[in-house]
Amino acid sequence: MPDHFLPYGVTREDGILHVEQCSLSDLAQQFGTPCYVYSKAAISAAYTEFANAFAGQNTLICYAVKANGNLGLLGLLSRLGAGFDIVSGGELRRVLAAGGDPQKIVFSGVGKSAAEMRQALSTGILCFNVESAAELRRLSQVACSMGLTAPISLRVNPDVDAQTHPYIATGLKDSKFGIAYGDAFPLYQEAAALPGIAIHGIDCHIGSQITELSPFLAALEKVLALIERLKGAGITLQHVDMGGGVGIRYRDETPLNLAEYAQAMQALLKGFSGRLLLEPGRRIVGNGGLLLTRVEYLKSAPEREFAVVDAAMNDLIRPALYQAWHEIVPVLARVAQNRILDVVGPVCESGDILGTARSLSVEEGDLLAILSAGAYGSSMGSNYNARPRPPEILVDGRAVTIIRRAESFDDQIRNEISAP
Ligand code: LLP
Repeated sequence: MPDHFLPYGVTREDGILHVEQCSLSDLAQQFGTPCYVYSKAAISAAYTEFANAFAGQNTLICYAVKANGNLGLLGLLSRLGAGFDIVSGGELRRVLAAGGDPQKIVFSGVGKSAAEMRQALSTGILCFNVESAAELRRLSQVACSMGLTAPISLRVNPDVDAQTHPYIATGLKDSKFGIAYGDAFPLYQEAAALPGIAIHGIDCHIGSQITELSPFLAALEKVLALIERLKGAGITLQHVDMGGGVGIRYRDETPLNLAEYAQAMQALLKGFSGRLLLEPGRRIVGNGGLLLTRVEYLKSAPEREFAVVDAAMNDLIRPALYQAWHEIVPVLARVAQNRILDVVGPVCESGDILGTARSLSVEEGDLLAILSAGAYGSSMGSNYNARPRPPEILVDGRAVTIIRRAESFDDQIRNEISAP
């Protein structure tokens, strides 16, 4: 990959890859590998670009915590003014622990438990994004039992094709997420009559890693048509939540221009006086993080060559799960001839692949940076094969903060008990 395609915050200086002013070989020496490295400047810039695109408009950006829920990053985003989109009681606690403002939290997800509803109600969050009739009725009961009122949006499925990987498309009519478009109007009428429920808005989220404007606009048009119909029935909404899903460049994608995205959405919204909420995850943190790994072995099979590295699918599952492409760049640029290598991890699964058929010039012991790993990297990590969760480092210029310590073996077995 030509170096001019490196994400913001990543540069090559004196032949060595850096995140901001920190050399990745120094970081590997200090913290070991594998290791997640984030750029504070890149994440701040991505958030600010989003916020600026919508500046002057009545908008709240609720960062989707699932993309990366590290407390260090949540704190950074909260200080920049972000709200948060959560999907569990655990994510709620993370946001609060990081100093997030409850009045900037929206709660999405198809399976909220009564306990999670109580937790969010007593916290006083901004809105529940309700995803079914059954959830709405349960929320009404839970709120009434606490003598409280739950602010809600219904998450509708506008049934538009987000033109993305089927595993991450969520706005189609047979999706497990949200409420079928045709069912939303009667459910709003039911909600209006339910005790303990206050209708605040409408919500949708059509999928992830979307690089076209048209699916967002098609979804918004359908949402606006529903808002009009509701108004006719005496139900007025204070906000429209258009979810997340804005894609990033992993390889050769052309991501949406955020100013154009903001302008196009705002043009459609001009007859609506309420607030616009957005739930971007990947676009805020995806290109602000990389996974640093070391080549353990080079090996050949009859028709393939492998670089076996010390990171694996338990650290970054996207390539194994979605055949997702992550750019892999040597930390030290070598002049020797490139070879075509599969970059694989040590986990005992044939699917433990980080990159297939990559043209690389590497030797055993070399460091590789797996780029664009800030979103859905660490947050989807596991301990499979009893591998410890890697440390996470936040770089700010020359300064380095450990935002997640390397997991020790004791951490890993803390909750396990030997049977008698
Ligand atoms: N809001 C809701 C309700 C969501 O379900 C999601 C993501 C987001 C916001 C944030 O979407 P983003 O802006 O990050 O695209 N693990 C997959 C992505 C799953 C996305 C799930 N929902 C991946 O690694 O590509």
